[in-house]
Order: sequence, then structure tokens, then C-alpha cells
Amino acid sequence: MAETAQQLSTKHLLGIKDLSAEDIHLILDTAATFKDVINRPIKKVPSLRDITIANVFFENSTRTRLSFELAEKRLSADVINFAASSSSVSKGETLIDTVNNILAMKVDMIVMRHPYPGAGVFLSKHVDAQIINAGDGAHEHPTQALLDAFSIREQYGDVAGKKVAIIGDILHSRVALSNILCLQKLGAEVLVCGPTTLIPKYITSLGVKVEHDLLKALHWCDVANMLRIQLERQDINYFPSLREYSMLYGLNKTILESLDKKITIMHPGPINRGVEITSDVADSQHSIILDQVQNGVAVRMAVLYLLAGKRV
Ligand code: CP
Repeated sequence: MAETAQQLSTKHLLGIKDLSAEDIHLILDTAATFKDVINRPIKKVPSLRDITIANVFFENSTRTRLSFELAEKRLSADVINFAASSSSVSKGETLIDTVNNILAMKVDMIVMRHPYPGAGVFLSKHVDAQIINAGDGAHEHPTQALLDAFSIREQYGDVAGKKVAIIGDILHSRVALSNILCLQKLGAEVLVCGPTTLIPKYITSLGVKVEHDLLKALHWCDVANMLRIQLERQDINYFPSLREYSMLYGLNKTILESLDKKITIMHPGPINRGVEITSDVADSQHSIILDQVQNGVAVRMAVLYLLAGKRV
């Protein structure tokens, strides 16, 4: 890939909040170029040959961790992986000590997932490396929002003017906030749908519509992004039972086929089949769930490549 003429306005990727619409368009355009690259027989480019990246995960992940690692390897970076569960964190080592020890090994970038909101921002103020937020608690998951926007753009040619419904556990979801910010910056309309208890009161201040009736939300939208119920982040019961939640907010084939138009179904994963979405919808021609995963590699390549251009 040639030297980038355009640059991101930020040194780190901590949240969509910090990106301008121009930044997002630059990432999506760069990702489109990388998607062509990874579909070639020779999938590797030498762009990050001199860069070492640490993937530091204090929370479980399948898609994000693997796709960051693959993106880094496709760009020829040196990669080290750190999982808190098998590290000296269990012996009481702090976040800053952990990361500074990793940096002492001459690491240039840290990709971090952490259960605490703001962990990436905190780290960026205390260590001398570029930080990429791979999900911080219920706050932001910027690369998920970017790959979701990329996938919508791929389906429709443009995100502007599209109507996107985000359905499910909005309260505990970092995907929801990052998606709302990203889609709005690109000119989409956003609606959130779910039980009153799972929709935070501040959400209307972000300029999104709120709907508690699943069918009305589906009739309104072009794209439905179905979110998982995050039981691991719930300290109290927000609804009587998963069965009842599924009856009111679960998307099944009968509901989908009752609509008078074709809509696109997305899900960030992991899916709880039979709760927020049935298998016949998740695996149907309406679903672009695995396209999202595939696009995640190209989008993360774009993010890493563009941030590397900001190194001093
Ligand atoms: N979408 C997502 O963040 O999935 P993982 O938790 O598996 O990374």
C-alpha cells in the first residue's frame, strides 16, 4: 500500500466519540482497499514490518482478538498476545505496571479490552504507546462500530440516509453507544428498541428514537442490529425471564417474513441463538453476520495502518 496522503485526526483510537466524519470515511475507504488485499492469493503487505503490537485482553473475546491478530499479521507487524487470566495480574500486578512491562519489551501499540469503562483513556495518559480500545466495559467498542458501518456501506453503497434499529440490551452494550455515534456521524438515522429497563434514560439526549415494540422498530428500519442480553454485566433482574424476553424481543422467521420489505440483519456476536435471534434468521439470506466478521479484519487493518502513520 502506498504512503497515506490523508491522516487521522487522533493518535489513539479510544472511542468513536473522538473521530470526525472525515476520519471515519478515511478508515472505511482504507478498509475497502485492504479487503481487496486480503481476498488476493498473497494476503500480506509489508506496511507495519517495523512495528510491534501487543494484544492485551482483560476480558474474553473470540472475534475481536482473533481479527486484530490476523490484521496485524496481514500487515507484517510483530505480535504478542496477553490474556489476563494466565498472567501476573492474578498475583496483584496493576494495569499500568503490566502495560509498562510489556512496553519495556519495545512495543509500539497496545490493543486493549478491559471490563472498566475508560480504561483505554486512562492508559493513554499514563504510558508512552498508541492505544486502541478493543472494548471498555459498557462504554465503547469503536472497531465494532466501524466494521458495522463498513458492512452497511457494502450492502447499500452508503450509510447516509439509512434507518438502523439497534435492538436488545442497550443499557449494558458498548456496541450500541459506538454504533449510535458512528452511524449518526455518517448521516444515518438510529432507533433503539428493547424493554424500558434495558434502555438508559440519557439515550434520547443522543438524538436517537426509542421504540419498545419490536414489530414497529422492524417496520421502520432498513437494518436491524440485534444485540445479546449481557447477563454477565447484570447485577439485578431487568426482565422476568429469558423466555419472556425472547417472546417480546426475539427475532424469528415468522416476524421477518411478515414485514412488507426486506431488511438486513446484523449481530456483533456472540449470538445467543433462540434468545435475541433464532437460527433460521441468523443463518438466513437476510443476515450479514459473517460478512461483519470478515470485514472486521479489513477494518482493523485500516485502523492499525492509519494510526501507524501518526507515530512520531
Ligand atoms: N463482537 C465482539 O466484540 O465479539 P468478541 O467478544 O468475541 O470479541
